[in-house]
Order: sequence, then C-alpha cells, then structure tokens
Amino acid sequence: MVQTPPLSADAAIAPGESPDVQSIVILDFGSQYSELIARRIRETQVYSEVLPYRTSAAELSERAPKGIIFSGGPSSVYDDRAPQCDPEIWNLGIPVLGVCYGMQLMVKQLGGSVERAERAEYGKAALQIDDPTDLLTNVADGSTMWMSHGDSVTELPSGFERLAHTDNTPDATIADHTRKLYGVQFHPEVVHSEDGQALIRNFVYHICKCEPTWTTEAFIDRAIADIRKQVGDKRVLLALSGGVDSSTLAFLLHKAIGDKLTCMFIDQGFMRKYEPERLMKLFKEEFAISVEYVQARDRFLSKLKDITDPEEKRRLIGHEFIRVFEEESTRLGPFDYLAQGTLYPDVIESANTNIDPKTGERVAVKIKSHHNVGGLPKDLQFKLVEPLRKLFKDEVRKVGRAIGLPEEIVNRHPFPGPGLAIRIIGEVTAERLNILRDADLIVRQEINRQGLYHQVWQSFAVLLPIRSVGVMGDQRTYAHPVILRLVQSEDGMTADWARVPYEFLEIVSNRIVNEVKGVNRVALDITSKPPGTIEWE
Ligand code: XMP
Repeated sequence: MVQTPPLSADAAIAPGESPDVQSIVILDFGSQYSELIARRIRETQVYSEVLPYRTSAAELSERAPKGIIFSGGPSSVYDDRAPQCDPEIWNLGIPVLGVCYGMQLMVKQLGGSVERAERAEYGKAALQIDDPTDLLTNVADGSTMWMSHGDSVTELPSGFERLAHTDNTPDATIADHTRKLYGVQFHPEVVHSEDGQALIRNFVYHICKCEPTWTTEAFIDRAIADIRKQVGDKRVLLALSGGVDSSTLAFLLHKAIGDKLTCMFIDQGFMRKYEPERLMKLFKEEFAISVEYVQARDRFLSKLKDITDPEEKRRLIGHEFIRVFEEESTRLGPFDYLAQGTLYPDVIESANTNIDPKTGERVAVKIKSHHNVGGLPKDLQFKLVEPLRKLFKDEVRKVGRAIGLPEEIVNRHPFPGPGLAIRIIGEVTAERLNILRDADLIVRQEINRQGLYHQVWQSFAVLLPIRSVGVMGDQRTYAHPVILRLVQSEDGMTADWARVPYEFLEIVSNRIVNEVKGVNRVALDITSKPPGTIEWE
C-alpha cells in the first residue's frame, strides 16, 4: 500500500528499536523476495531488517547484526551496472548467506567464477545433499527447492566446498565453514521450497547463534517503554480509522501514556453502514478509551459535488481530510506529538518500487494516489511517534490480538481511506451513498453468514452510474446495476477474483435487487489484478 512518507523522518524515533534486540540484516539486491526473507527470519523469532545493497561495512559493523543475507536480484554479476557490495563486508567476521544473485556475487568477489548456464533453471528442483550438516541439518535429501536463475557458479573461491547439487546445478549450496560464508542457488524463502524454512532456521540459530528475542510480548513491553521514553508527559494526537493499525496504535499508546493520548475519529461519511457508530461504541464502552468524534460528512460531500474523475475525487478527499485534521487538532490541542501507524513495508526502500533493468536503480511505481490517516503533509508542526514502524502487517495483528483487540478489528478486511466514495462511479451524492451502503451491507452479511469472510481478501459492492431496464412484478424498472467485487490476495499488490459458491451469488443478487431501492441488476467482476485493480477507482 502506498503511504505518504513520515512527516519528518529524523523526528521519528522508532519504539521497539532498543539495542538489546539481535538482528539479521538482509541486503537488498533488487529481488522481489527481499521483504519475504525478512518475514521468514522474523517467523523464527529473530528480528530482521532490509537495507539497500550499498550499505557500507562500517554501517553494518555499527549495527552489529548476528548475520547478513544477500538477497537475489534481476542482474547478472557480469552486467556493467550489476550491484556490488562493499568488499569490506567479507572481513567483518559476521556470517553471510548469499541467495541466488547474492551467492553469485559472493563467489565472484571472492575469486571464483560465474557463467551463463547452458540451461536457465526455473521452478522446482530436487536438492541432492552432499553434506547434511551445518546449513543443511534437517533438510531432506531430494527435498524440493525453488530455482530461478540464468547464471551458475562454475568455480568455487578458495576455502569453499559444495554442500549440495541438483541435476542442473553442480553448486546449489556452498560453504566456507571457517569464515562462515554460505550460498544457495535456490530461494529458501518461497513456499515452494519444502525445507526452505529449516535451512533459514539453521542459518539463524546454528550459524549466527541467535536467540529468539523477537516475540510479540517482548515487542509490546519494549514499545511501551520506548513510547514513555520518547514522549514523556507530552500530549499525543492520534487519528483513528477503525482499522487494525490505528486501533493497535491507540491501544499501545493508551497503555503507555493513558490520558495524555487523544484519539480523534473524522467521519468523512464514506464508511460502511453502522461502522462509525460501532467504532465509537467499541472504544468507549469496551476499551474505555475516549475518542473525539468529528462529524464532517456534509463538508466532504459538498466538496465532491459534480466531481466524477477518480483522481480528482481522491485529491479532494485527501485535502479536505488535512483541513479538518488541522482545524480539529487546533481545537483539541496543543499537541506535541502525532501518532502514525506507519508499518515496515512503508519504510523500506524496496516497498512499492521496481528495479529499472537499465540502471539497476529502484524506481517508484504509482498507479493511484492513496489516501489514509497517515496521508498528512510534511509541514505539520508535530513530532512523530511511530511505534509500529518496525512491524509487518501480520505482526501488527499479533500485537493487536495480544493487547486485547477483538477479532472483528484484528481480522478486518482492508478498507480504502476514501471509502465508499471510490466505489461509487461518477458523482458521489447522499442518495447514492445510501444505495451503496445498503447493497454493501448485504454482501457483508452474506459473506459472514456463509463463512466466507476468512476465504477472501476483500468483498464489496460497486455502484455504477448507468441504468438498465428490468421487470419487477408487472412493473418495468429502470435503475442502476451493482457490481460484486470479491478478491483473493496475499498483499493487495496482485489479486485474483474469488471463486465463491453460486449459492452465495444467488442469495446476494436476490437480496440486493429485492431489498435495495434503486438497484435492479447485479453483476460479478471477474478481473484479476493486474490488469484490473481491486477498487474501481
Ligand atoms: P487497488 O485498487 O490499488 O487496491 O488494487 C489495492 C489495495 O489498496 C486498497 N486501497 C487503499 N487503501 N487508501 C488506503 O488506505 C487508499 O486510498 C486506497 N486505495 C485502495 C484497496 O482497498 C486494496 O486493498
């Protein structure tokens, strides 16, 4: 998800960053899997972060990770602009595991050779183990690993030996035991690699000698202590959206600083039916955290009068949000700090970027301008407190659950900042919002009733501005169609339409046409992303 960068990065001390946390650093050479490697490491209860491949040996030495992983990447080590690492890294005495391109770079820099393979190897391959100790402990002989490479190692640097091979790749796993340098030609981080996680655990625990210090409970204790240290007795403002990130943030801050925290909920009027009321009730009655409710529905609606262009809608909603936010924070303030639900994927350089094959540089990709409660401008007079900036989304959920958030928030499907406004194609009016809210409620009710909630990433209705003819009883109707959008996804970056049962579709279609005035037709969107996007605007 694209988010606006932090207001002022240097003001943002990250709670949870205490020096006692052991870490494994991933140097990112442009692989689409760099972030995934970090997540796999964290699953072993050891903290891991992704840094650009240019990170110097001096900086690494200062951070003192227990181990370093070189990611894969799209380049060939012989390309003119192939990304290189600081050669001093080999002298740090820190264990290194090179993955795919990372292994080839290690081999080349240490005096071995890499050449274009006779046959590129993509997909599954059986790993034949020559030395079952060390990195390959508990990795089964013949175990499937995921390959994706055009170059191969042809000569090992001195001090290295082979630990495993495949039919096509003689040196599929290599090691210099003395210097604790390791390389794998496959991708242990992807799910198709059967014993990939066992290999990662071996690196983390046997080779780097880490201890399991990255646990939810330990994170919460540290985050609360760090928040207290950072903000002292100063006042903090938090804009609540009702999603898992801002709710978890509210809980953590409330635990840390009690009533020095002010939560504010700006109701733009684009939320789903009953959601604003539900959110206010939950926080007030069940969590005993007071929330300032800001009713701004008419303001937003009047801004959108006659607006049909999707980007213009997003821009106007984003602007209005900032204006309401500024007014309300002045009214409720003054505040010293603003709490933001920035997550780790928003912080690392590789998020939302692609590698430019010509220059080897990462370039930003922008399809839509996203808006959310973090989308505030850089010049606001606040310092930032961002306790979640080290966490992946699944880790936020674990924290949320551990501090007592109910499942309805912890597992809530993603919901866009501009809400229903970008699910109404054409002009957004009060009447059309009501139509969509009613149709959307039926989709949600049936998704829950038929036990499909956890099987889909998102499910919602979209209202079209066109009309078509229908018949109800003996009457001709001429009304709007509603589109059902149900998708499955891992991260929202790609998605497929969800194969839900016909019975579900039948019930939803019947109910919408019968119960929602103004709708006489229901259609199903069966477009994947790409080429479609999840939202219609
Ligand atoms: P698209 O439509 O780009 O959506 O395929 C990908 C994911 O992002 C969500 N989305 C947003 N989330 N602010 C948000 O916080 C936004 O402006 C926004 N626009 C889209 C969308 O619901 C999906 O999960």
